[in-house]
Amino acid sequence: MNLYDRIPNNVNLSEDKKLQRALEKWLPNYINWWREMGPDGFQEKDVWLRTAVDVGSEGWAHFDYVKMPDYRWGIFLEPAEPDAKVGFGDNQGRPAYQEVPGEFRNALRRIIVTQGDTEPASVEQQRQLGKTCPSLYDLRNLFQVNVEEGRHLWAMVYLLHGYFGRDGRDEADALLERRSGNPDKPRILEAFNQPCDDWLNFFAFTMFTDRDGKYQLSALAESGFEPLARTCQFMLTEEAHHMFVGDTGLGRVVRRTAQLMKEGDVRELGGIPLEIIQKYINFWFSYSLDLFGGEISSNSADFFAAGLKGRYKEQEQYVDHSAANENFTMQVVEDGQLRSREVPLRNALNEVLRTEYIKDCEKGLARWNKVLNEAGMSERLYLPNPRFHRHVGEYADHSFDIHGNPISKEEFEKHKSEWIPTLKDREYVRSLMHPVTEPGKIANWIAPPAAGIKGKPFEFEYVRL
Ligand SMILES: [Fe+2]
Ligand SMILES: [Fe+2]
Repeated sequence: MNLYDRIPNNVNLSEDKKLQRALEKWLPNYINWWREMGPDGFQEKDVWLRTAVDVGSEGWAHFDYVKMPDYRWGIFLEPAEPDAKVGFGDNQGRPAYQEVPGEFRNALRRIIVTQGDTEPASVEQQRQLGKTCPSLYDLRNLFQVNVEEGRHLWAMVYLLHGYFGRDGRDEADALLERRSGNPDKPRILEAFNQPCDDWLNFFAFTMFTDRDGKYQLSALAESGFEPLARTCQFMLTEEAHHMFVGDTGLGRVVRRTAQLMKEGDVRELGGIPLEIIQKYINFWFSYSLDLFGGEISSNSADFFAAGLKGRYKEQEQYVDHSAANENFTMQVVEDGQLRSREVPLRNALNEVLRTEYIKDCEKGLARWNKVLNEAGMSERLYLPNPRFHRHVGEYADHSFDIHGNPISKEEFEKHKSEWIPTLKDREYVRSLMHPVTEPGKIANWIAPPAAGIKGKPFEFEYVRL
Protein backbone atom coordinates (compact mmCIF):
# COMPACT_ATOMS: atom_id res chain seq x y z
CA MET A 1 0.00 0.00 0.00
CA ASN A 2 1.47 3.35 -1.04
CA LEU A 3 -0.17 5.48 1.58
CA TYR A 4 2.01 8.53 1.40
CA ASP A 5 2.20 8.94 -2.36
CA ARG A 6 0.60 12.05 -3.75
CA ILE A 7 -2.31 9.79 -4.59
CA PRO A 8 -2.51 7.09 -1.90
CA ASN A 9 -3.28 3.74 -3.53
CA ASN A 10 -2.93 0.00 -3.40
CA VAL A 11 -2.84 -0.48 -7.16
CA ASN A 12 0.90 0.11 -7.67
CA LEU A 13 0.20 3.40 -9.35
CA SER A 14 3.89 4.37 -9.44
CA GLU A 15 4.50 1.49 -11.88
CA ASP A 16 2.06 2.94 -14.40
CA LYS A 17 3.58 6.35 -15.08
CA LYS A 18 1.04 7.34 -17.71
CA LEU A 19 -1.92 6.66 -15.46
CA GLN A 20 -0.19 8.26 -12.49
CA ARG A 21 0.47 11.45 -14.48
CA ALA A 22 -3.11 11.59 -15.73
CA LEU A 23 -4.52 11.22 -12.22
CA GLU A 24 -2.05 13.73 -10.81
CA LYS A 25 -3.36 16.17 -13.38
CA TRP A 26 -6.93 15.48 -12.29
CA LEU A 27 -6.08 15.81 -8.55
CA PRO A 28 -5.87 19.65 -8.32
CA ASN A 29 -9.15 19.94 -10.24
CA TYR A 30 -10.72 17.60 -7.74
CA ILE A 31 -9.39 19.63 -4.78
CA ASN A 32 -10.74 22.80 -6.39
CA TRP A 33 -14.13 21.14 -6.80
CA TRP A 34 -14.07 19.99 -3.15
CA ARG A 35 -13.20 23.48 -1.91
CA GLU A 36 -15.91 25.02 -4.05
CA MET A 37 -18.68 22.42 -3.62
CA GLY A 38 -17.75 20.48 -0.45
CA PRO A 39 -19.15 21.27 3.04
CA ASP A 40 -19.50 25.06 3.25
CA GLY A 41 -17.75 26.72 6.18
CA PHE A 42 -15.99 23.73 7.77
CA GLN A 43 -12.98 23.07 5.56
CA GLU A 44 -10.41 24.16 8.16
CA LYS A 45 -12.00 22.39 11.13
CA ASP A 46 -10.65 19.22 12.74
CA VAL A 47 -13.14 16.39 12.25
CA TRP A 48 -12.83 13.00 13.91
CA LEU A 49 -12.91 10.90 10.75
CA ARG A 50 -12.40 7.35 9.66
CA THR A 51 -9.56 7.27 7.17
CA ALA A 52 -8.34 4.25 5.28
CA VAL A 53 -4.77 3.31 6.17
CA ASP A 54 -5.03 -0.15 4.65
CA VAL A 55 -7.69 -2.23 2.89
CA GLY A 56 -7.47 -5.02 5.49
CA SER A 57 -10.37 -5.46 7.88
CA GLU A 58 -8.88 -3.13 10.52
CA GLY A 59 -6.85 -0.81 8.36
CA TRP A 60 -9.66 0.92 6.55
CA ALA A 61 -11.28 1.93 9.81
CA HIS A 62 -8.63 4.09 11.48
CA PHE A 63 -10.03 7.12 13.36
CA ASP A 64 -8.35 10.48 14.00
CA TYR A 65 -8.84 14.24 13.72
CA VAL A 66 -8.29 15.43 10.19
CA LYS A 67 -9.20 18.53 8.18
CA MET A 68 -11.43 17.45 5.32
CA PRO A 69 -9.24 18.71 2.46
CA ASP A 70 -6.38 16.62 3.97
CA TYR A 71 -8.50 13.46 3.96
CA ARG A 72 -6.73 10.55 2.30
CA TRP A 73 -8.48 10.57 -1.05
CA GLY A 74 -7.06 7.80 -3.11
CA ILE A 75 -7.55 4.51 -4.90
CA PHE A 76 -8.25 1.44 -2.83
CA LEU A 77 -9.32 -1.84 -4.33
CA GLU A 78 -10.18 -5.05 -2.62
CA PRO A 79 -7.18 -7.40 -3.08
CA ALA A 80 -7.32 -9.49 -6.27
CA GLU A 81 -8.47 -13.07 -6.04
CA PRO A 82 -6.18 -15.49 -7.84
CA ASP A 83 -7.93 -17.25 -10.75
CA ALA A 84 -11.03 -15.05 -10.61
CA LYS A 85 -13.71 -16.24 -13.04
CA VAL A 86 -16.73 -14.74 -14.69
CA GLY A 87 -19.45 -15.80 -12.28
CA PHE A 88 -22.63 -15.75 -14.38
CA GLY A 89 -24.15 -15.26 -17.82
CA ASP A 90 -23.03 -16.77 -21.11
CA ASN A 91 -19.30 -16.63 -20.28
CA GLN A 92 -19.62 -18.18 -16.87
CA GLY A 93 -16.45 -20.02 -15.79
CA ARG A 94 -14.12 -18.21 -18.19
CA PRO A 95 -11.24 -16.17 -16.69
CA ALA A 96 -12.41 -12.77 -15.39
CA TYR A 97 -11.84 -9.85 -17.79
CA GLN A 98 -8.81 -7.72 -16.95
CA GLU A 99 -9.64 -5.32 -19.78
CA VAL A 100 -12.97 -3.93 -20.93
CA PRO A 101 -14.63 -6.29 -23.45
CA GLY A 102 -14.73 -4.24 -26.68
CA GLU A 103 -18.39 -4.66 -27.55
CA PHE A 104 -19.46 -3.44 -24.08
CA ARG A 105 -17.04 -0.57 -23.86
CA ASN A 106 -19.61 2.21 -24.29
CA ALA A 107 -22.24 0.66 -22.09
CA LEU A 108 -19.76 -0.06 -19.32
CA ARG A 109 -18.36 3.44 -19.49
CA ARG A 110 -21.92 4.75 -19.18
CA ILE A 111 -22.50 2.64 -16.05
CA ILE A 112 -19.28 3.87 -14.45
CA VAL A 113 -19.97 7.51 -15.36
CA THR A 114 -23.53 7.28 -14.02
CA GLN A 115 -22.36 5.73 -10.75
CA GLY A 116 -19.47 8.21 -10.54
CA ASP A 117 -21.79 11.17 -11.10
CA THR A 118 -23.87 10.35 -8.02
CA GLU A 119 -20.88 10.63 -5.68
CA PRO A 120 -19.98 14.33 -6.08
CA ALA A 121 -23.68 15.12 -6.62
CA SER A 122 -24.60 14.05 -3.09
CA VAL A 123 -21.77 16.14 -1.63
CA GLU A 124 -23.18 19.14 -3.51
CA GLN A 125 -26.71 18.43 -2.33
CA GLN A 126 -25.54 18.30 1.29
CA ARG A 127 -23.04 21.13 1.35
CA GLN A 128 -25.08 23.57 3.48
CA LEU A 129 -26.29 21.05 6.06
CA GLY A 130 -23.36 21.51 8.46
CA LYS A 131 -24.69 24.94 9.37
CA THR A 132 -27.82 23.48 10.93
CA CYS A 133 -26.47 20.27 12.52
CA PRO A 134 -28.57 18.83 15.38
CA SER A 135 -25.39 17.78 17.27
CA LEU A 136 -21.63 17.44 16.86
CA TYR A 137 -22.13 13.69 16.50
CA ASP A 138 -24.42 14.25 13.50
CA LEU A 139 -22.11 16.87 12.05
CA ARG A 140 -19.25 14.40 12.11
CA ASN A 141 -21.36 11.71 10.45
CA LEU A 142 -22.36 14.12 7.69
CA PHE A 143 -18.72 14.92 6.98
CA GLN A 144 -17.75 11.24 7.09
CA VAL A 145 -20.35 10.51 4.45
CA ASN A 146 -19.18 13.49 2.37
CA VAL A 147 -15.47 12.61 2.30
CA GLU A 148 -16.26 8.99 1.46
CA GLU A 149 -18.49 10.01 -1.43
CA GLY A 150 -15.55 12.10 -2.59
CA ARG A 151 -13.36 9.02 -2.45
CA HIS A 152 -15.97 6.99 -4.34
CA LEU A 153 -15.63 9.51 -7.12
CA TRP A 154 -11.90 8.73 -7.11
CA ALA A 155 -12.69 5.04 -7.44
CA MET A 156 -14.79 5.60 -10.56
CA VAL A 157 -12.31 8.10 -12.01
CA TYR A 158 -9.54 5.54 -11.58
CA LEU A 159 -11.53 3.10 -13.74
CA LEU A 160 -12.25 5.77 -16.35
CA HIS A 161 -8.61 6.87 -16.57
CA GLY A 162 -7.20 3.38 -16.31
CA TYR A 163 -9.43 1.52 -18.76
CA PHE A 164 -11.14 3.95 -21.15
CA GLY A 165 -8.34 6.04 -22.59
CA ARG A 166 -9.06 9.49 -23.88
CA ASP A 167 -12.84 9.47 -23.61
CA GLY A 168 -12.47 8.14 -20.06
CA ARG A 169 -10.35 11.16 -19.18
CA ASP A 170 -12.92 13.49 -20.74
CA GLU A 171 -15.68 11.85 -18.74
CA ALA A 172 -13.59 12.24 -15.56
CA ASP A 173 -13.29 15.98 -16.24
CA ALA A 174 -17.03 16.26 -16.89
CA LEU A 175 -17.74 14.65 -13.50
CA LEU A 176 -16.29 17.77 -11.89
CA GLU A 177 -18.21 20.14 -14.17
CA ARG A 178 -21.83 19.07 -13.72
CA ARG A 179 -23.63 20.49 -10.66
CA SER A 180 -26.54 19.10 -8.67
CA GLY A 181 -29.75 20.97 -9.45
CA ASN A 182 -28.15 23.28 -12.01
CA PRO A 183 -30.58 23.51 -14.97
CA ASP A 184 -27.75 24.12 -17.47
CA LYS A 185 -25.45 21.30 -16.35
CA PRO A 186 -27.43 19.01 -14.04
CA ARG A 187 -26.28 15.73 -12.55
CA ILE A 188 -27.34 12.69 -14.60
CA LEU A 189 -29.96 11.13 -12.31
CA GLU A 190 -32.98 13.03 -11.01
CA ALA A 191 -32.71 11.96 -7.35
CA PHE A 192 -29.34 13.72 -7.34
CA ASN A 193 -30.79 17.02 -8.53
CA GLN A 194 -33.37 17.20 -5.74
CA PRO A 195 -32.63 19.62 -2.89
CA CYS A 196 -31.38 18.02 0.31
CA ASP A 197 -31.46 21.13 2.43
CA ASP A 198 -32.69 19.96 5.82
CA TRP A 199 -31.66 17.08 8.05
CA LEU A 200 -34.86 15.10 7.57
CA ASN A 201 -34.04 15.10 3.87
CA PHE A 202 -30.48 14.06 4.68
CA PHE A 203 -31.56 11.08 6.79
CA ALA A 204 -34.15 9.99 4.21
CA PHE A 205 -31.56 10.41 1.46
CA THR A 206 -28.91 8.30 3.21
CA MET A 207 -31.55 5.72 4.13
CA PHE A 208 -33.12 5.33 0.69
CA THR A 209 -30.81 6.79 -1.94
CA ASP A 210 -27.50 5.57 -0.52
CA ARG A 211 -29.19 2.19 -0.20
CA ASP A 212 -29.81 2.18 -3.95
CA GLY A 213 -26.04 2.67 -4.16
CA LYS A 214 -25.54 -0.43 -2.07
CA TYR A 215 -27.57 -2.54 -4.50
CA GLN A 216 -25.98 -1.11 -7.64
CA LEU A 217 -22.51 -1.60 -6.19
CA SER A 218 -23.36 -5.11 -5.02
CA ALA A 219 -24.48 -6.06 -8.53
CA LEU A 220 -21.28 -4.56 -9.97
CA ALA A 221 -19.15 -6.21 -7.28
CA GLU A 222 -20.20 -9.51 -8.92
CA SER A 223 -18.81 -8.29 -12.24
CA GLY A 224 -16.58 -10.41 -14.43
CA PHE A 225 -14.68 -7.19 -15.23
CA GLU A 226 -12.34 -7.61 -12.30
CA PRO A 227 -11.13 -4.05 -11.67
CA LEU A 228 -14.77 -2.95 -11.41
CA ALA A 229 -15.67 -5.79 -9.05
CA ARG A 230 -12.75 -5.06 -6.73
CA THR A 231 -13.43 -1.31 -6.71
CA CYS A 232 -17.09 -1.79 -5.83
CA GLN A 233 -16.38 -4.32 -3.11
CA PHE A 234 -14.25 -1.80 -1.28
CA MET A 235 -16.81 1.00 -1.71
CA LEU A 236 -19.48 -1.20 -0.15
CA THR A 237 -17.58 -1.35 3.14
CA GLU A 238 -17.96 2.43 3.40
CA GLU A 239 -21.53 2.57 2.11
CA ALA A 240 -22.74 0.58 5.12
CA HIS A 241 -22.02 3.55 7.39
CA HIS A 242 -24.01 5.93 5.19
CA MET A 243 -27.10 3.76 5.47
CA PHE A 244 -26.55 3.44 9.21
CA VAL A 245 -26.63 7.24 9.43
CA GLY A 246 -29.94 7.40 7.55
CA ASP A 247 -31.62 4.45 9.21
CA THR A 248 -30.71 5.44 12.79
CA GLY A 249 -31.20 9.14 12.01
CA LEU A 250 -34.82 8.60 10.95
CA GLY A 251 -35.27 6.20 13.87
CA ARG A 252 -34.15 8.92 16.28
CA VAL A 253 -36.54 11.45 14.74
CA VAL A 254 -39.38 8.92 15.13
CA ARG A 255 -38.37 8.27 18.76
CA ARG A 256 -38.43 11.97 19.57
CA THR A 257 -41.73 12.53 17.77
CA ALA A 258 -43.32 9.67 19.72
CA GLN A 259 -42.12 11.25 22.96
CA LEU A 260 -43.59 14.61 22.01
CA MET A 261 -46.89 13.00 20.93
CA LYS A 262 -47.32 11.85 24.51
CA GLU A 263 -46.66 15.33 25.81
CA GLY A 264 -49.05 17.18 23.52
CA ASP A 265 -49.13 18.73 20.07
CA VAL A 266 -45.94 17.81 18.22
CA ARG A 267 -45.84 21.04 16.22
CA GLU A 268 -46.37 23.24 19.24
CA LEU A 269 -43.60 21.35 20.99
CA GLY A 270 -41.22 21.92 18.07
CA GLY A 271 -41.09 18.35 16.76
CA ILE A 272 -41.68 16.80 13.33
CA PRO A 273 -45.16 15.24 12.99
CA LEU A 274 -45.35 11.65 11.73
CA GLU A 275 -47.33 12.77 8.64
CA ILE A 276 -44.38 14.85 7.51
CA ILE A 277 -41.91 12.03 8.16
CA GLN A 278 -44.17 9.77 6.07
CA LYS A 279 -44.18 12.26 3.19
CA TYR A 280 -40.39 12.45 3.19
CA ILE A 281 -40.28 8.64 3.08
CA ASN A 282 -42.70 8.66 0.12
CA PHE A 283 -40.60 11.23 -1.72
CA TRP A 284 -37.14 9.69 -1.36
CA PHE A 285 -38.28 6.08 -1.65
CA SER A 286 -40.05 6.72 -4.96
CA TYR A 287 -37.16 8.73 -6.43
CA SER A 288 -34.72 6.03 -5.31
CA LEU A 289 -36.79 3.29 -7.01
CA ASP A 290 -36.29 5.14 -10.30
CA LEU A 291 -32.53 4.69 -9.96
CA PHE A 292 -32.84 0.98 -10.74
CA GLY A 293 -34.01 1.73 -14.29
CA GLY A 294 -36.89 0.37 -16.36
CA GLU A 295 -38.80 -2.72 -15.23
CA ILE A 296 -38.24 -4.38 -18.60
CA SER A 297 -34.76 -3.77 -19.91
CA SER A 298 -32.72 -5.23 -22.74
CA ASN A 299 -29.63 -3.55 -21.26
CA SER A 300 -29.99 -5.56 -18.08
CA ALA A 301 -30.22 -8.73 -20.18
CA ASP A 302 -27.11 -7.86 -22.24
CA PHE A 303 -25.11 -6.98 -19.16
CA PHE A 304 -26.00 -10.16 -17.38
CA ALA A 305 -25.32 -12.29 -20.46
CA ALA A 306 -21.89 -10.68 -20.79
CA GLY A 307 -21.09 -11.33 -17.12
CA LEU A 308 -20.74 -7.62 -16.34
CA LYS A 309 -23.56 -6.91 -13.89
CA GLY A 310 -24.94 -9.69 -11.73
CA ARG A 311 -27.80 -10.05 -9.32
CA TYR A 312 -27.61 -9.16 -5.64
CA LYS A 313 -25.37 -11.78 -3.96
CA GLU A 314 -25.27 -13.72 -7.23
CA GLN A 315 -22.81 -16.31 -5.94
CA GLU A 316 -24.30 -16.70 -2.50
CA GLN A 317 -28.01 -16.66 -3.32
CA TYR A 318 -28.38 -18.51 -6.62
CA VAL A 319 -27.60 -21.95 -7.95
CA ASP A 320 -28.39 -21.31 -11.61
CA HIS A 321 -26.12 -18.48 -12.76
CA SER A 322 -27.32 -18.46 -16.34
CA ALA A 323 -30.86 -17.16 -15.66
CA ALA A 324 -31.57 -17.97 -19.31
CA ASN A 325 -34.57 -20.27 -19.01
CA GLU A 326 -36.74 -18.60 -16.43
CA ASN A 327 -39.50 -16.04 -16.65
CA PHE A 328 -40.52 -13.26 -14.32
CA THR A 329 -44.07 -12.06 -13.85
CA MET A 330 -44.66 -8.36 -13.32
CA GLN A 331 -47.52 -5.90 -13.41
CA VAL A 332 -47.68 -3.63 -16.44
CA VAL A 333 -50.24 -1.04 -17.51
CA GLU A 334 -52.37 -1.89 -20.56
CA ASP A 335 -55.30 0.32 -21.58
CA GLY A 336 -55.17 2.02 -18.22
CA GLN A 337 -55.45 -1.31 -16.38
CA LEU A 338 -52.88 -3.30 -14.45
CA ARG A 339 -52.17 -6.65 -16.09
CA SER A 340 -49.69 -9.42 -15.37
CA ARG A 341 -47.02 -10.01 -17.98
CA GLU A 342 -44.37 -12.70 -18.16
CA VAL A 343 -40.98 -11.54 -19.36
CA PRO A 344 -37.69 -13.44 -19.72
CA LEU A 345 -35.90 -13.22 -16.38
CA ARG A 346 -32.82 -11.60 -17.89
CA ASN A 347 -34.95 -8.69 -19.08
CA ALA A 348 -36.39 -8.24 -15.60
CA LEU A 349 -33.15 -7.98 -13.66
CA ASN A 350 -33.61 -4.29 -12.81
CA GLU A 351 -36.88 -5.26 -11.20
CA VAL A 352 -35.25 -8.23 -9.45
CA LEU A 353 -32.63 -5.90 -7.94
CA ARG A 354 -35.32 -3.35 -7.04
CA THR A 355 -37.28 -6.06 -5.24
CA GLU A 356 -34.21 -6.92 -3.12
CA TYR A 357 -33.84 -3.25 -2.32
CA ILE A 358 -37.46 -2.92 -1.23
CA LYS A 359 -37.08 -5.91 1.10
CA ASP A 360 -34.11 -4.17 2.70
CA CYS A 361 -36.04 -0.90 3.09
CA GLU A 362 -38.89 -2.78 4.79
CA LYS A 363 -36.48 -3.74 7.56
CA GLY A 364 -35.86 -0.07 8.29
CA LEU A 365 -39.60 0.57 8.47
CA ALA A 366 -39.99 -2.37 10.87
CA ARG A 367 -37.32 -0.87 13.15
CA TRP A 368 -39.01 2.54 13.20
CA ASN A 369 -42.41 0.98 13.82
CA LYS A 370 -40.92 -0.93 16.72
CA VAL A 371 -39.94 2.43 18.21
CA LEU A 372 -43.54 3.61 17.82
CA ASN A 373 -44.86 0.38 19.28
CA GLU A 374 -42.57 0.56 22.30
CA ALA A 375 -43.71 4.13 22.89
CA GLY A 376 -47.29 2.85 23.02
CA MET A 377 -48.33 4.47 19.73
CA SER A 378 -50.76 2.82 17.33
CA GLU A 379 -49.64 4.89 14.31
CA ARG A 380 -47.32 3.17 11.82
CA LEU A 381 -45.02 4.31 9.03
CA TYR A 382 -44.99 2.42 5.71
CA LEU A 383 -43.44 2.29 2.26
CA PRO A 384 -45.64 3.53 -0.57
CA ASN A 385 -46.46 1.07 -3.34
CA PRO A 386 -43.52 0.87 -5.81
CA ARG A 387 -45.76 2.20 -8.63
CA PHE A 388 -46.43 5.42 -6.74
CA HIS A 389 -44.78 8.68 -7.95
CA ARG A 390 -42.45 7.11 -10.48
CA HIS A 391 -40.57 9.02 -13.17
CA VAL A 392 -38.74 6.14 -14.84
CA GLY A 393 -39.96 2.79 -16.22
CA GLU A 394 -43.33 1.11 -16.81
CA TYR A 395 -45.28 3.31 -14.41
CA ALA A 396 -43.75 6.68 -15.24
CA ASP A 397 -46.46 7.80 -17.65
CA HIS A 398 -49.34 6.78 -15.40
CA SER A 399 -50.68 7.99 -12.09
CA PHE A 400 -51.16 5.82 -9.03
CA ASP A 401 -52.29 6.44 -5.49
CA ILE A 402 -50.09 5.62 -2.52
CA HIS A 403 -51.39 2.00 -2.55
CA GLY A 404 -50.55 1.56 -6.23
CA ASN A 405 -54.12 1.79 -7.61
CA PRO A 406 -54.33 3.45 -11.03
CA ILE A 407 -55.92 6.89 -10.80
CA SER A 408 -56.29 9.83 -13.16
CA LYS A 409 -53.71 12.56 -13.38
CA GLU A 410 -56.27 15.01 -11.95
CA GLU A 411 -56.93 12.71 -9.02
CA PHE A 412 -53.20 12.47 -8.35
CA GLU A 413 -52.79 16.24 -8.40
CA LYS A 414 -55.73 16.58 -6.05
CA HIS A 415 -54.16 14.32 -3.43
CA LYS A 416 -50.51 15.04 -4.04
CA SER A 417 -50.18 17.31 -1.00
CA GLU A 418 -51.26 14.41 1.26
CA TRP A 419 -48.46 12.20 -0.07
CA ILE A 420 -45.49 14.35 -1.06
CA PRO A 421 -43.92 17.11 1.08
CA THR A 422 -45.46 20.49 0.27
CA LEU A 423 -43.58 23.75 0.29
CA LYS A 424 -45.20 24.43 3.66
CA ASP A 425 -44.00 21.08 5.07
CA ARG A 426 -40.48 21.80 3.88
CA GLU A 427 -40.57 25.30 5.32
CA TYR A 428 -41.81 23.97 8.64
CA VAL A 429 -39.00 21.39 8.83
CA ARG A 430 -36.46 24.04 7.85
CA SER A 431 -37.79 26.32 10.59
CA LEU A 432 -36.71 23.71 13.16
CA MET A 433 -33.15 23.50 11.88
CA HIS A 434 -30.93 25.48 14.24
CA PRO A 435 -27.34 24.44 14.84
CA VAL A 436 -26.56 22.69 18.12
CA THR A 437 -22.78 22.54 18.49
CA GLU A 438 -22.11 22.15 22.20
CA PRO A 439 -20.66 18.68 22.92
CA GLY A 440 -23.34 16.42 24.41
CA LYS A 441 -26.28 18.65 23.40
CA ILE A 442 -28.97 17.70 20.88
CA ALA A 443 -31.67 19.56 18.93
CA ASN A 444 -35.23 19.33 20.22
CA TRP A 445 -36.69 17.51 17.19
CA ILE A 446 -34.45 14.41 17.37
CA ALA A 447 -33.42 11.91 20.07
CA PRO A 448 -29.74 11.35 20.87
CA PRO A 449 -28.09 8.22 19.39
CA ALA A 450 -27.93 5.01 21.41
CA ALA A 451 -24.12 5.09 21.27
CA GLY A 452 -21.30 7.27 19.96
CA ILE A 453 -18.82 6.44 17.22
CA LYS A 454 -16.10 3.80 17.66
CA GLY A 455 -16.46 3.57 21.44
CA LYS A 456 -16.53 7.33 22.03
CA PRO A 457 -19.46 8.71 24.04
CA PHE A 458 -22.11 10.97 22.51
CA GLU A 459 -20.53 13.87 24.47
CA PHE A 460 -17.21 13.49 22.64
CA GLU A 461 -16.03 16.54 20.70
CA TYR A 462 -16.44 14.99 17.24
CA VAL A 463 -15.77 18.26 15.46
CA ARG A 464 -13.57 21.03 16.87
CA LEU A 465 -15.27 24.26 15.89
FE1 LIG B 1 -20.90 6.47 -2.63
FE1 LIG C 1 -22.99 6.67 0.10
